[in-house]
Amino acid sequence: MGTITQGIQRSRTQVAIVGAGPAGLSLAHMLARQGIDAVVLERHDESYVRSRVRAGVLEQTTVDLLDDLGLADRLHREALRHNGFYLRFDGQTHQLDFHADTGRNAWVYGQAEVVADLIDGLAARDAPVRFGAADVAVHDIDTDRPSVTYTGADGTRHLVEADFIAGCDGFHGACRAAVADRIRTAERAWPFAWLGILAHSTPVAEEGTYSVHPDGLAVHSMRGPRLSRQYLQVPAGTDPAAWSDAEIWAELRRRGAADDAPEIESGEIIERSLALLRSLVSEPMRVGSLFLLGDAAHIVPPTGAKGLNLAVSDACVLSHALGGFYAERRTDLLDAYSDTALPRIWQAQAFSWNMTSMLHRTDGDGFDWPLRRARLQRIVDSDDDRRAIGHVYLGLPFPTRWRYA
Ligand code: APR
Ligand code: PHB
Repeated sequence: MGTITQGIQRSRTQVAIVGAGPAGLSLAHMLARQGIDAVVLERHDESYVRSRVRAGVLEQTTVDLLDDLGLADRLHREALRHNGFYLRFDGQTHQLDFHADTGRNAWVYGQAEVVADLIDGLAARDAPVRFGAADVAVHDIDTDRPSVTYTGADGTRHLVEADFIAGCDGFHGACRAAVADRIRTAERAWPFAWLGILAHSTPVAEEGTYSVHPDGLAVHSMRGPRLSRQYLQVPAGTDPAAWSDAEIWAELRRRGAADDAPEIESGEIIERSLALLRSLVSEPMRVGSLFLLGDAAHIVPPTGAKGLNLAVSDACVLSHALGGFYAERRTDLLDAYSDTALPRIWQAQAFSWNMTSMLHRTDGDGFDWPLRRARLQRIVDSDDDRRAIGHVYLGLPFPTRWRYA
C-alpha cells in the first residue's frame, strides 16, 4: 500500500475518490472496468453507510447502467418494478402509467441496497472502500499532482497522491468546502420539509402514491410487502421527535384518505428522519484537478427522487472523460465535464421543482389549492402532460456513455 515516511503512509493512485455514496461507488466501478486505478475514502464506518435510510426510486436509465456494470442481479430479484405512480386528490386515486407509454419502468430499491451492492462489488474486485477515513483534506488541486490526506480507521496518517480527485462526499464534505469560494451557487430553499418514516405496515397501493391534500402532501412509498416508506410535508425546522407515532399515523391517514381505497394501515415505526427541501446547483463542477459529483455539486428536493440518479449520471460523465484521458491523453472531455453534466442536472431540477410546487401546500391562501388542483387535473386528463412527466421520471438518457470507446 505504499511507503511510510515521517509517520505518514504514502501511496499513489490515478483517481482518489472521496465519499462512498452512489456517486463515488458507481464511479469506482466504471473506472475499474476501464482499467483505471482508484481508491475510495469514506468518513463513516461500513455498517453506518450500509444502513443509512434514504430515498429509493431508481430510473430505468440508472437500472440499465447497473445492468451494464453487472451489478443488478440482486436488484432484479428484490426490487419492486413500478409502471409509474399514483396521484390522489379530492378523495380519488389516479394511476399514471408511464410504462404503457414508454415500455420503461421505475424501480423501487432503497439507496442503502444500491450502496451495499456497489460496496460488495468493489470488495469482490479486491478494491475495497477505505471506511473510517477521518480528517480528509485535499491538496494541490491547482496542479496535476493533487493529493488527499486522511487518518485511517487504525489511526495511521495517509497521503494518497493522484492525477485527479473526485469529490463525491456530499454537500457537507471536504471537497466542496475546499473550493467553496471558487464555485457559484444558484439556490432556492423551500419553506417545508419531509418527515420520513420507515414502518412495518402494508403499503397503501401497489405503487408510490402522492396524496395531495390542501393541508399538505403525504407520500406513500414502500420497500417491501410489509415495509412502507412514508413522508409528511411539515414546516421547515420541525423537530421530528415532536410528533408522536400516533400523530404521524393520524395525519398520514387524514391526508391520504380516499373514497376508492381502504384506510392506511399503521404499524411499528422503525426509523424516522427529517429531510430539508432545497434546490441548488453549483458551477463549475470542476476546479483544477478536483471534480465535484452528486450532492457535492447539486441538491434536488426529494420529490420525484432524483438525487441518487443524478449522482450516477455525473459519475457516467466523469468516467467517460477519464476514460478518454487515460486511453488517448484527451483533456477536452475533462474540460467539458461541467458543461456536459449540467444540462441534465437542470432538467432534473426543473422536474423536481415542478413536482414540488405542484404537490406541496405553499402559502395556503385561496389561490394555492385551486391552482394546484388544476395542475393535477391536467396531468390526469392529458396524455401529453402525463407523457412529459413520465419521460423525465423514468430517466432522461445520460449525457455520455460511461465507457470511453
Ligand atoms: N470525508 C470522507 N467522506 C465523506 C466526507 C469527508 N469529509 N463527508 C462526507 N463523506 C461521505 C458520506 O459519509 C457519504 O457516504 O460521502 C458520502 C456522500 O454520499 P451521499 O451523501 O449519498 O452523496 P452522493 O453519492 O452524491 O449521492 C447523492 O444521496 O443523500 C442522497 O439525496 C441524496 O440521493 C442523493 C444521493
Ligand atoms: C421513496 O420511496 O423514498 C420516495 C418515493 C417517492 C419520492 C421520494 C422518495 O418522491
